[in-house]
Amino acid sequence: MANQLSKKKVLITRKFPGRILDILQDSFDIILHDSEFPLSRKQLLEYSHDVDGIICSHSDDIDYDFITSCTNLKVISTFSVGYDHIDIKTATKKGIYVTNTPDVLTDATADLTIALLLTLTRRLDQSQTIMKNKKWINAGAPNFLLGTELNNKIFGIIGFGRIGMAVSKRAQSFGMDIIYNNRTRFDVAKELKFNITYKNFDELLKTSDVISIHVDLNKSTLKFINYEKLCLMKPNSYLINTSRGQVIDEKSLIKILLEDKISGAALDVFENEPLSVDDEIFNLKNIILTPHIGSATFEARSKMGEICALDVFSVLSSKTPSHLVNQNVEKIRPLV
Ligand code: 8YV
Repeated sequence: MANQLSKKKVLITRKFPGRILDILQDSFDIILHDSEFPLSRKQLLEYSHDVDGIICSHSDDIDYDFITSCTNLKVISTFSVGYDHIDIKTATKKGIYVTNTPDVLTDATADLTIALLLTLTRRLDQSQTIMKNKKWINAGAPNFLLGTELNNKIFGIIGFGRIGMAVSKRAQSFGMDIIYNNRTRFDVAKELKFNITYKNFDELLKTSDVISIHVDLNKSTLKFINYEKLCLMKPNSYLINTSRGQVIDEKSLIKILLEDKISGAALDVFENEPLSVDDEIFNLKNIILTPHIGSATFEARSKMGEICALDVFSVLSSKTPSHLVNQNVEKIRPLV
């Protein structure tokens, strides 16, 4: 009984896939929000005030008020690679370890990017709608649903980290030429090895046939794709975003699409998620929309769950976690 009482507490804010409970339930007291829907802000604050660890989703706002309201918190493990929803500075100051789930969702997100690329360029959404509505009335029509080939087209990748790189490899297998823009330019040897050409931001926007965004959301990328930048894109080009919705000024994108200044866009992420039913984006003809499914594969999601659980286990057992975001926290609160 005494041992039971001294168990540390872990809050799990959703019904996440993976072996989370198998890994944690014997050693910790678990508070599980066993639902596909998020906790309300009030519930989140209430359930977490005395927990030692939390496994959260990118839609939980782990901000200053949340972090400072938790009295025992030692580890925040997010079921996502992105950690823009977490106030890392405050967590670090308070000696709270923050972990994420990189790598395991790279292939899933890159696959989705290519699926969106092909959907845009081969008009798969329109084809599907015509077939489902039984509107295919003219067999062999020579000008029906013409699309664009990828071979020899220029693919501009903004943000060339793990996911950007995986997208590049896939696009190269279609014969696309890759240009990239990144916070830091790679050395020539690396550019040659990956067969990629660096362009400054504006140049990339001006020359690409397709642009795909793979950056983190931070102060410098917040709405960095605005109207002025969108106007630089070629009239027959496409834009794809599977990173974070807030990197694009959505109103500007809607305007550009309404004005037919680019051929189309495909978005998996949005400024506000979920989209509200009356969002004007639904009225656009030249857009493909998916509901933030970049990492939504059985493989990725179960590995994400496992990583979250193992990292919470590590920190609460005074071991360094495998996917630590705020490395400098070890100086503030060493684990051993
Ligand atoms: C979501 C993501 O976390 O990893 C990220 O940064 O945005 C996604 O993987 C996922 O939808 C889980 O809810």
